[in-house]
Amino acid sequence: MVKICCLGAGYVGGPTMAIIALKCPAIEVVVVDISAARIAAWNSDQLPIYEPGLDEVVKSCRGKNLFFSSDVEKHVLEADIIFVSVNTPTKTRGLGAGKAADLTYWESAARMIADVSKSDKIVVEKSTVPVKTAEAIEKILTHNTKGINFQILSNPEFLAEGTAIQDLLNPDRVLIGGRQSPEGQKAVEALKAVYANWVPEDRIIATNLWSAELSKLAANAVLAQRISSVNAMSALCEATGADVTEVAYAVGKDSRIGPKFLNASVGFGGSCFQKDILNLIYICECNGLMEVANYWKGVIKINDYQKSRFVNRVVASMFNTVSGKKIAVLGFAFKKDTGDTRETPAIDVCKGLLGDKANISIYDPQVTEDQIQRDLSMNKFDWDHPPHLQPMSPSAIKQVSVVWDAYEATKDAHGVCILTEWDEFKTLDYQKIYDNMQKPAFIFDGRNIVDLEKLRKIGFIVYSIGKPL
Ligand code: NAD
Ligand code: UGA
Repeated sequence: MVKICCLGAGYVGGPTMAIIALKCPAIEVVVVDISAARIAAWNSDQLPIYEPGLDEVVKSCRGKNLFFSSDVEKHVLEADIIFVSVNTPTKTRGLGAGKAADLTYWESAARMIADVSKSDKIVVEKSTVPVKTAEAIEKILTHNTKGINFQILSNPEFLAEGTAIQDLLNPDRVLIGGRQSPEGQKAVEALKAVYANWVPEDRIIATNLWSAELSKLAANAVLAQRISSVNAMSALCEATGADVTEVAYAVGKDSRIGPKFLNASVGFGGSCFQKDILNLIYICECNGLMEVANYWKGVIKINDYQKSRFVNRVVASMFNTVSGKKIAVLGFAFKKDTGDTRETPAIDVCKGLLGDKANISIYDPQVTEDQIQRDLSMNKFDWDHPPHLQPMSPSAIKQVSVVWDAYEATKDAHGVCILTEWDEFKTLDYQKIYDNMQKPAFIFDGRNIVDLEKLRKIGFIVYSIGKPL
């Protein structure tokens, strides 16, 4: 029986390994983590992450060929294939701080693998890493004196949160990069054989190591660029009377462009887009490619601009001040169907409103009060020093309440900001909400999910991204 061990039981390690276990009954999969609490949660009824369909998959395999353990060394020792799916955040201090990837977790995982192993292993980069990381990892692994052969593969993950299970079951492609040597190609074939249990062969792409590593950064950069492009257009739509939904539809009908990922929004969030573009920018700068670095910086700058533009719109519409006014925030997660708040635009929008002394009442169906308070009090990493991204003072945090119902959040509010596109926000009883709000009642839809005409008929003053006022 082939044994797989995955280091890192996070948003990627957990779901990815659960699907491998589901689709490969002949493989034993053990997911390990240095966080005992996270492993305990994976072994409980309350999984540590919310992801539609994940519970069912985990329940059907756990204890059969899928295991979660904190005994990291034991399972590394026994494994044939080791996936490394640890976090690779942006460095916050030292050389490259603010842009470069922090590979501390990766390096310590590699050192541990080198120390513990007693037999040949395939080590798979699942985390998103800078191009050429495999070279550094190889140096660490092959500097053992035990004569063990390690083959490094790059197998970046393309799942999106909220749709992880579907993305894993039916991926657009699986990318495997390896050394061109016979041993390298043998390792590529071994990993291909795992995916071939459910992924059609023509969707499994083999490349060289550096192409695989760079393709992951490139894919995220291009996806984020589409959003910044449509968000930049949304500002022009508001200035001219064009409607961004109509423009995006017309543009996306061109089969060379395609309709996906053209939804204007309050800005993109999530743990990866900004981090990976900053990483790409840093690599460009290190290679002396300043024009290329500046090109990608534009994508992040437009995203920051879109978030502050939204805050400015709220404050300006509400007679240039929200001081002492109650603003309801519907949605805090960075997108629907996840409880993840990493880099969510809601953090920056809330901080902006708190900066203008608003009282905020937040409701999100999947995000806890603790998480929201942590996010708002965190000294947020600030890549380009925009003034509204500063940490909040404890007194500002007191202006925040977190409630478990959209009607409670909006009661007596002067304005409502929709910051996540949860389906339930589309079907709220907006007449009831209007009746219980202060007048004039404002709605600022950061996700373009409400029926503008209907809400305006009720009496709301409505602002939607990129729509005529
Ligand atoms: P995460 O923070 O949810 O999980 C990482 C886990 O690794 C943590 O639980 C941490 O405790 C554990 N860990 C750290 N060092 C370890 C070690 N030495 N041994 C064992 N466990 C260790 O992160 P994530 O969202 O799963 O992302 C992981 C990687 O995948 C990142 O590089 C990210 O860029 C990439 N990625 C993420 C997504 C996503 O949707 N979140 C999608 C594609 C790629
Ligand atoms: C993204 C990519 O889609 C995945 O392919 C990739 O594997 C992952 O990053 C990663 O490397 O971590 P994710 O961040 O989970 O996945 O979610 P997305 O669906 O890409 O959404 C990211 C952000 O963009 C969200 O805030 C979302 O609301 C926003 N978005 C998305 C828009 O504003 N408009 C759109 O048209 C699409």
